[in-house]
Parts: sequence; structure tokens; C-alpha cells
Amino acid sequence: MNDRIYLDHNATTPLDPEVREAMRPFLSERFGNPSSIYQEGMDARYGVEKARMQVAELLGCEEEEVIFTGGGSESDNAAIFGTLRALRERGRHIITSQIEHPAVLRTCQYLEKYEGYKVDYLPVDRDGRVGVEDVAAALRPDTALVTIMLANNETGAIQPIRELCARAHEQGVRFHTDAVQAAGKVPLSVGELGVELLSLSAHKFHGPKGMGVLYCKRGTELFPLIFGGGQERGLRAGTENVAGIVGTGHAAMLARRRLAEDAARLGELRDLLENQLLQRVPGARVLAGGAHRLPNTSLMTFANVPGVELVAEIDGLGVCASSGSACSAGTTKVSHVLSAMGVSRAEGLSAVRFSLGRDNTRQEIERAAAVVAECVERMRLEARPSGR
Ligand SMILES: Cc1ncc(COP(=O)(O)O)c(C=O)c1O
Repeated sequence: MNDRIYLDHNATTPLDPEVREAMRPFLSERFGNPSSIYQEGMDARYGVEKARMQVAELLGCEEEEVIFTGGGSESDNAAIFGTLRALRERGRHIITSQIEHPAVLRTCQYLEKYEGYKVDYLPVDRDGRVGVEDVAAALRPDTALVTIMLANNETGAIQPIRELCARAHEQGVRFHTDAVQAAGKVPLSVGELGVELLSLSAHKFHGPKGMGVLYCKRGTELFPLIFGGGQERGLRAGTENVAGIVGTGHAAMLARRRLAEDAARLGELRDLLENQLLQRVPGARVLAGGAHRLPNTSLMTFANVPGVELVAEIDGLGVCASSGSACSAGTTKVSHVLSAMGVSRAEGLSAVRFSLGRDNTRQEIERAAAVVAECVERMRLEARPSGR
């Protein structure tokens, strides 16, 4: 497996060896329950609180504003349901965008269908950006929450959260952002963003899977998603996943420490990949190229080559990437993000996402570009009637 080139870091990242080492004792001898008042419990509590401090440093917030959860999806659900239940009196209107992750989109769809909420799904421009004025125009006296992602997982397009949030605040509406794809790739300061709620997922920044964070600004009333013991200030019941929390904290510390270097390097490698593919592959195009994007993410289309098949071809040659469409029930569906950007179905079917990570090397990127270019050329030749 070692000579494989992994370019799907927006799907998940490998656990950093340092993170694994930090977690290891909490999977064996430091097994106590953090709620126990004797030594073993206090030892586990120390691990949890140290991690909370590390996450607080990444986000530029107070430790008490950090809630550990079971992943990005849970954080998104907790932010949305928790807000609506706490603000029942305020109203039943939500503003979100058409390009959110299903953890937000499906939650909103559920609320619309079964709980009588009205949801505005804001459009995006051709580069996948939500318009600040669109949010302002959608706000109503009964709007309870605006939830718009910080960076899109497919395109990498970064939304103007500070400006969007300021508009919501002008009307006294609170703001949640799904920042799952942003951690470790762009600076994340909740003070600068201005948001009340923000979601993270540890496995997207070299931490463990099944671990997330919900930032909840002090004074923001929130109802829990999971009731039970008083863990996480009563906002997320259940005995803590101590090793997972310790790993999340350590990964947050590394993400903060390495951010400047990682972002600069990833940006260079991503540009190299795009330039090589644009030069070598006729009809190749970068989507969302006009947007401020995550430095590691590239969503490209290769005219007339099915993305799903291209992903399978390059997989056979050792390169991992993901397609911008998915097969279900015998038909291939273009992602909702591409549809929202106005990308045609024909072009959307040829989309492939490359998402780089801190361990990728220049040689890997050059090799991956060559593999993709060769595969596209071969597939196009084979698709021609005379090529068969
Ligand atoms: C933008 C975004 N939000 C939420 C999630 C869900 O995170 P998790 O896998 O930790 O539930 C993902 C994962 O792909 C994501 O990309």
C-alpha cells in the first residue's frame, strides 16, 4: 500500500503518528472515568481538559466553549436542533445554503417535512459562493438560525462567514458554521468570524474518527441532543471517549502549529497538480476556480470522461481521489453542489475531486498528474468508435 498516492483528504485523513501516541495510554492504563473523583478518574479528566484547552487554542475561544461530540455530523445536528429547541419562541424559519453537507441539508429537510419549519436554501454563484446580500434579503422576524458552511467539501470554496454572520447579527439572528473542512487548512478564529456555533470533525485534521467538536459561544442558549449525565456542561451526555478526546486535542494542537507551513505547501502542490492537468488534458477545467478556496482542494472536470470510471482507473494505478457524482439505483447523480453551481449534468458527471494532505510530496503530485492524464487520454480513445 505504501506506494499508493492518497489524494482524498477531504474524505478523511490518516491519524498522525503523534496523535496515536498521545491517545495510546488512554486506551490502556489510563482507563479511568473522568467523572470519578479518585486518582484514575482525575488522570482521565486531566487528559480531557488538556484536549479542551488545545481545541480552544485552535479556535481562539474559552475552554468552557468547547463541547466534544461524536463527529462533525453530530455537531451540526446538535447546533441546529439545540438552537431551534432553545429558541422555540423566536420562530420557525431557518436560512441555509444549497451546498451544505448532508449533515445540515438533511436535518433542515427533516425539520421542514416533519416539524413545520420553513427553510430557505440560498443559491450560490458559478464559483460556489453564497451572496452576502442573499442572506440579508432572506432574514425574517421569525428566523431562528442561519447555518452556512465555512468551506465546501467538494469545491473547497470558502464562504464569507464574517460578512454573512454580521448580516444575521444585524437582525439579532444567531449563526452556525460547519467548519469541518477548514480546520488545519485556513485560520479559524471564532472571534473574527463572529459565529455563535461552529462544528469540527477530528478525522478531517489527522485526528481520530467518530470525534467532533461543537464550539458554543458563552451565553448562547442551547438544548442538548443527548440527555443523560452532566458531561460536557450538560450539553452532551455520556461517558467521554477519553482517548478520542485526547487525540482530537493533540490533532488540534498540531493543526494550529503547522497551519502556516501546511497551507503554503498544500497550495503550491495543488496549483502544480491543476497546472499540469490543465496543460496535459484538453478540455480540463477547474471548478470554483474564481473563489477563495481551501489550499488543498481541487475539483476538476475532464470533458466526456465519466468521473466515476476515471476514479476507478486511477485507483488501479495507485491514485486515490473521489468523483463528483455517485451511482445509486442504476443511475449516476451529479452532486447537489455542482447542480447548485449551475454545472451542466454532462460536465458534472466528469468531475473528480483531488484533496491533498500534509504528507503528499511533489513527486507524488507529479506522478498523480501523469496517471490522470494518461487515463483520460486512454479512456477517450477507447470511447471513440474506431478506438475499440
Ligand atoms: C463539510 C462537512 N460537514 C460535516 C461532515 C461530517 O463529519 P463526520 O464524518 O465527522 O460526521 C463532513 C464529512 O465529510 C463534511 O465534509
